[in-house]
Amino acid sequence: MTKLEVLISKEQIDKRVGELAADIRRDYADKDPLLIGALKGSFVFMSDLMRKLNIPVEVEFVRLSSYGAGTETSGKVKLVQGIKTPLKDRHLLVVEDIVDTGLTLHFLLDYLQRRKPASVKLCALLDKPSRRVVDVPIDYLGFTVPNKFIVGCGIDFNEEFRYLPDIYTVEEQ
Ligand code: PRP
Repeated sequence: MTKLEVLISKEQIDKRVGELAADIRRDYADKDPLLIGALKGSFVFMSDLMRKLNIPVEVEFVRLSSYGAGTETSGKVKLVQGIKTPLKDRHLLVVEDIVDTGLTLHFLLDYLQRRKPASVKLCALLDKPSRRVVDVPIDYLGFTVPNKFIVGCGIDFNEEFRYLPDIYTVEEQ
């Protein structure tokens, strides 16, 4: 049986996303930023954040995969679908749901840097630093979470639970 416990409520998420949006708006108001999301996990946070920014932004998505259908990262990140639009001299803000080992972000930041953007920064809703394998600089962070399996707000467990508005820890019993 799978047991879920609320870790961060949708009210807490809403408030924190508003604060992050205010910081980003201040830093990017005159920069015509391009938001970059990694599918699938980031689409809920991306949608919440971009609607709170209140500045003109563009958005692109990449499709990466490392976890497959399981709960443990394979350690090997694959680019399933990249970005066709030119990134040269653009101010890029990567918007991610969770940084765990950091392998996904490390791969994505490297992929983006190769396209010669003006700048690349990272906004992550959740950080699980206890699992980090490679260092990743998080410029805007929502919450730090414990070393437990997390679902909700776009994050899945075997493709389930992405739709949940709150963030939960999962325990298999
Ligand atoms: C999840 C999550 C992050 C990544 C973080 O994606 O959305 O992108 O793992 O883990 P890491 O820091 O250990 O690399 P996943 O590969 O499960 O694909 P999904 O977004 O389609 O759920």
